[in-house]
Amino acid sequence: MTQPLGLLAELTHRCPLACPYCSNPLVLESRTDELDTATWSRVFQEAAAMGVLQVHLSGGEPAARRDLREIVAAARDAGLYTNLITSAIGLDAVRLAGLQKAGLDHVQLSIQDIDAGSADRIAGYGGAHVRKLAFARHVVQLGLALTVNTVIHRANIGNTPALVALAAELGAGRIEVAHAQYHGWALRNRDALMPTAEQVFRAMEQVEPLRAAYSDRLVIDLVVPDYYASQPKPCMGGWARRSLNVTPAGRVLPCHAAETIPGLEFWSVRDRDLAEIWSQSPAFQAFRGTEWMREPCRSCDRREIDFGGCRCQALAIAGDAREADPACALSPYHARMQDLARPVQHDAPLTYAYRGRPAA
Ligand code: SF4
Ligand code: FES
Repeated sequence: MTQPLGLLAELTHRCPLACPYCSNPLVLESRTDELDTATWSRVFQEAAAMGVLQVHLSGGEPAARRDLREIVAAARDAGLYTNLITSAIGLDAVRLAGLQKAGLDHVQLSIQDIDAGSADRIAGYGGAHVRKLAFARHVVQLGLALTVNTVIHRANIGNTPALVALAAELGAGRIEVAHAQYHGWALRNRDALMPTAEQVFRAMEQVEPLRAAYSDRLVIDLVVPDYYASQPKPCMGGWARRSLNVTPAGRVLPCHAAETIPGLEFWSVRDRDLAEIWSQSPAFQAFRGTEWMREPCRSCDRREIDFGGCRCQALAIAGDAREADPACALSPYHARMQDLARPVQHDAPLTYAYRGRPAA
């Protein structure tokens, strides 16, 4: 069994934004169920003892937690590299400087599009874009490392080069150009988010020249869209191999969408040590390694490379999490996945079901 290297700490599902591709579940966990500071501190210590190197403080919007500074300090005390994944709403220069003093190493800022009108419409929050740009400048002025996260979909895919230019102008060292992954709210909004094949191939062709043009100042990471792929990605680096997610209420998941798979039993950090959950919880054991595989994965040369792709996508499209990821051309459900991205879908209007707010 491998040891995890990364911990995604979902501090809260509360968020002022309402992005239609949000990876949070359709039913959000409430504030009253959130873990307290002391429990997060214990989780970080347990993670570090297992060999985890990095914690990604995420949400929802982590800044919605009043104790964010204490949480950052606890992660630093545990010896973890601390990365804050934020929309910037709720973080001004003073609060950011406090987080840096507490030990914050890195900031990942979401940017929805290049202009305020479109970006704020996608985020479902007026005025967000202007605040994000100001926040990015504070991050750079403080000398913190900055990555820009951009989720690509039909409304902004034509702006990929301009989004890269914006990240460079803001002083980011890295931009993640991630095509929407259709889980959670993105699955709900798939018809409005899905780009055409022509848009996807054009955007992907643009990436190599952009990498060359910005090679002296910006790393461009590309997360390719599964619906137009013929080989799947090793989702999460393989189920229960490299990382774990802790939800706001303390449930430990092998990936952010794992709760969509019926029949899995998740254990909680409220009841057990993280190492015990990693090694023994039924949800982590369910798809660890290759024993669970059916054909075509079971006898495939790539089974130790992509681990059969994404279990949650197999469930969503093939109806069974034990199937090969339908992004794979060898999957009997590959044609079904391609059908879901056919042009007829692209006449759908760009109206989104925005994610809601968690119950108080
Ligand atoms: Fe990966 Fe399974 Fe497809 Fe082989 S058959 S490439 S292991 S998803
Ligand atoms: Fe769950 Fe890919 S999102 S395995």
